[in-house]
Amino acid sequence: MGLRTFLKKKIYNLKFYKQKKSNLKNQTILVTGASSGIGLGICEKLIQNNKIIAVYNNNFVSLSELQNSNLIKVKCDLFDLDNYQEIEKQIVKNNIDLIINCAGQFGSINQQLTDIDFNNFLNILKLNSLSILKILQIMSKNDRIKYIKKIINISSSGGSIEENKQGNAYIYRTSKSALNSISKNLSIDLKKKYGTSVISIDPGNVKTGMNNKGYLAKEKCAEYIIDIICEDRDYNGSFINLLKKDIPW
Ligand SMILES: NC(=O)c1ccc[n+]([C@@H]2O[C@H](COP(=O)([O-])OP(=O)(O)OC[C@H]3O[C@@H](n4cnc5c(N)ncnc54)[C@H](OP(=O)(O)O)[C@@H]3O)[C@@H](O)[C@H]2O)c1
Repeated sequence: MGLRTFLKKKIYNLKFYKQKKSNLKNQTILVTGASSGIGLGICEKLIQNNKIIAVYNNNFVSLSELQNSNLIKVKCDLFDLDNYQEIEKQIVKNNIDLIINCAGQFGSINQQLTDIDFNNFLNILKLNSLSILKILQIMSKNDRIKYIKKIINISSSGGSIEENKQGNAYIYRTSKSALNSISKNLSIDLKKKYGTSVISIDPGNVKTGMNNKGYLAKEKCAEYIIDIICEDRDYNGSFINLLKKDIPW
């Protein structure tokens, strides 16, 4: 790592110097993208005191290392919206209090106008934007949606239309803008019907499978996300960063 990057990373991490100690207890939590990066960091922090329904696709190994009777592992390729039966089985068996929706991919490497792969674009939309709607539709069909207290959608500042100063990344940006739009809509519908809060969070620049040069450790990111979830203030309908600052849509 060059000196410049080292300093940038240090300065970035200074924003997160406070240790957040909030924790959750006795909740049933559905985590998508639980097998890697931010989702895995969240599972590691919450597994002792909560029941976790951990949705993964390819990466079985990291979840197996958690080895805890509170953990239910569910394999599901979220691209395939017609094939969520394994998740449905768990939805029927459990009253889920909280959903932390972390599953996501960036999409194909080149996303310049000239390079867009439309099949990949549609798959990424299914995963990054529509999968949460599909899960909630299944919950609704099974009369389980009323139990959810909070839904956290892990979005990205890349999905902010107003803050976009760089262009490119059509697939990723569009999928996260769509997720934000869905989040906002849900925050109105579900709050009115069931009192559920729905929040979009930008996790920042985190070192994960998707971003191997990220600055922030996944554990730190998880700590700050859990702190937002535990706070008394209701962030329903917001798009915020880890420091609880609003991000323009
Ligand atoms: N890291 C960052 O700097 C950053 C910045 C902004 C936003 N985000 C967002 O944070 C979220 C978590 O990403 P991450 O950085 O933690 O990346 P990551 O380490 O690559 O984790 C991605 C997770 O998504 C799951 N996933 C991918 N494709 C899937 C599919 N078809 N079906 C089911 N699950 C699938 C993966 O499961 P398997 O491994 O089991 O396949 C993995 O658990 C994403 O929504 C991402 O857009 C990250």
